Amino acid sequence: MTKKIGMFTALAAIAAVAFVGGVSAETIISGGMSAGDGDPKAGKAKSELCQGCHGADGISIDPATYPNLAGQFAGYIFKQVQDFQSGNRQDDTMSAMASMVTSRQDLKDISAYFASRKQMKGKSSGSKAAKSGARLYKSGNKKLGDYGACVRCHGKNGKGKGKSNALFPVIGGQQKAYLVKQLKDFKSGKRTNDPAGMMALVAKGLSDKEITAVADYVSGL
Ligand code: HEC
Ligand code: HEC
Repeated sequence: MTKKIGMFTALAAIAAVAFVGGVSAETIISGGMSAGDGDPKAGKAKSELCQGCHGADGISIDPATYPNLAGQFAGYIFKQVQDFQSGNRQDDTMSAMASMVTSRQDLKDISAYFASRKQMKGKSSGSKAAKSGARLYKSGNKKLGDYGACVRCHGKNGKGKGKSNALFPVIGGQQKAYLVKQLKDFKSGKRTNDPAGMMALVAKGLSDKEITAVADYVSGL
């Protein structure tokens, strides 16, 4: 793919997501939850079940298995859980957990609670892989051109574009094993809930070695 086509596809994808059917971008982005829509105080108690795996403050109790939710955008958490509920995203463990949240308001409160926790932050491994991962993050690769540059959508430090744009999740400081798994799931087509297939397109242009390298870098942000 040439750089020009890459850029065009990215812009078209974002435009498609934002303007489909005249629905506001925010509604599509967060499945109907606006930033500030949800009570973090009420969500603390309601999220006890979730805390068993994702940690009391949203930092995973088992980095090899569970992702962090701390400081993730509420709208993004809300969308993902709804996707697990509808079968749009699938994971044996998490799909079962999602089905236990039957009230939309509870889910908004839970999402607001984890979003309000001190944001996930990693520590650079300083490895050779992380250095090549940093290049990929900032500039993309030969195959994808700059479409593959993660920075364009996930922001300079992987902290996304702010809570009013929950389309692009926080990935900086996320658990490395989880990042690798998601990128491989997007690549293989196991995970298909990304708007306009944006992440699938990126992941399909990455080698397994590049996936490990970029996950090493991103988890350290
Ligand atoms: C028994 C362990 C367990 C419990 C309890 C649990 N989860 Fe999860 N959760 C997981 C696993 C495993 C994944 C990763 C799924 C995958 O690999 O796609 C996950 C993923 C997620 C994600 C996706 C994160 C992302 O960055 O995309 C969200 C959001 C989430 N869980 C929210 C919740 C909420 C809300 C609750 C409580 C109602 C909850 N989880 C309870 C195990 C658990
Ligand atoms: C064109 C925009 C775009 C680019 C470029 C992009 N992403 Fe994404 N990414 C997204 C979107 C949108 C999502 C959310 C998908 C969803 O809603 O389920 C996402 C989700 C992810 C997730 C899952 C996060 C989670 O919490 O489950 C990971 C990991 C990820 N991206 C890594 C990367 C990496 C690494 C790169 C660079 C190699 C990259 N992304 C480049 C748009 C992009």
